Amino acid sequence: MMGDRESVAIVLGTRPEIIKLSSLIPLLDEICKLTVIHTGQHYDFEMDGVFFDELNLRRPDYQLKVGSLGALEQITKITLGVRKTLPSDVQLVIVQGDTNTTLGGALAASKMKIPVAHVEAGCRSFNRAMPEEVNRILVDHISSLLFAPDMDSRKHLLDEGIDRQNIFVVGDTVVDACKRMSMHVSAQDFKREFGIDSERYALATIHRAETTDCLERLRNVAASLNLVSEMIDIVLPLHPRTRKALETHRIRLGKRVHILNPIGYRNFIAALKGATMVFTDSGGVQKEAGILNVPCLILRDETEWMDMVKRGKNIIVGTKPNRVTKIVRTLLEDKTRLERMKKQPSGLKSGASKNIVNILIGKKLE
Ligand code: UD1
Ligand code: UDP
Repeated sequence: MMGDRESVAIVLGTRPEIIKLSSLIPLLDEICKLTVIHTGQHYDFEMDGVFFDELNLRRPDYQLKVGSLGALEQITKITLGVRKTLPSDVQLVIVQGDTNTTLGGALAASKMKIPVAHVEAGCRSFNRAMPEEVNRILVDHISSLLFAPDMDSRKHLLDEGIDRQNIFVVGDTVVDACKRMSMHVSAQDFKREFGIDSERYALATIHRAETTDCLERLRNVAASLNLVSEMIDIVLPLHPRTRKALETHRIRLGKRVHILNPIGYRNFIAALKGATMVFTDSGGVQKEAGILNVPCLILRDETEWMDMVKRGKNIIVGTKPNRVTKIVRTLLEDKTRLERMKKQPSGLKSGASKNIVNILIGKKLE
């Protein structure tokens, strides 16, 4: 049994990691000596601090202040920082997802011969041009506990030769965070606070390097949003990476695309709840859309979360303006199709963090 003597560390550093670990951290604080190390990959209040505040999350024990750097510099700085910071008695290091923080944290632990547990193991886009795909594959292969969100992810791990005894299908921790927040927020409050007076609107997020770092794709996404905004107003909380890319390339968005700074979790979930549909290249948002029954149009050519697509809840629309607008027009004109997407069950269940803790309790850490 895990108890007060067991020493566990969590390494996190970006917006989705904070959200997706927010239900696990308090549970671990109750059963072991937990050290939370924040790498500082995200650091603006609206990308970081706001989530600790709104999710009532205790502050990290250490802040590495790594900041924004090239991938290799960032991963190296995180790896060395984590190595220096891990308590000498640590028996397990937990990381989540597929960011440079995830890889840096896992790499430090692995090289120090400390077991790694990977939350959200096994998800794959099968597109190795994405930095996230490389990160998640590497982390899975140096982890000794793989907490997979679903059976697809388990299969990917088995196909790559990972020992089945180390894989546990626990569900997705984003469900806990999203359901908890959605109980306390309303779309009306969001609209009032941000002065959105149109009766219906679509929400959009874009930030993946895959989109922002390829000019053709970025131009296509912007053109798609501009054309869609002639049919329905769009609310676009803009990731700093995307803001920079749009400014650098002088790409303009139409006046019915309401650009906001990144918004906190409370406002984001409120905005999502009231949206007619959501356009995104985000991983977490695809799941949250499924949980809240908001039709989700994925502005990519593939997704890690195929289950939701197969269920008819989400649609991969790509980035080409003709295709995107054709699909949106059909959905807006044929209400039954939109309703059908909303009504499909997402298959997503709460309790992933509790499942992880129960598995850890059943294990004796060495
Ligand atoms: C990272 C993850 C991505 C994840 C995303 C969540 C990697 C390789 N990518 O991408 O998988 O989906 O986080 O949002 O780890 N910036 C700020 N303020 C901040 C943070 C970043 O202005 O607080 C700007 C900086 O200019 C920085 C850029 O955003 O260079 C990109 O940040 P970075 O952390 O490198 O990657 P993300 O695009 O956020
Ligand atoms: N999110 C948020 N405010 C925003 C945009 C996104 O709170 O302005 C939340 C969203 O609800 C989701 C998470 O951030 O839980 C997703 O993060 P992101 O899209 O940055 O990363 P990804 O999930 O693609 O790794």
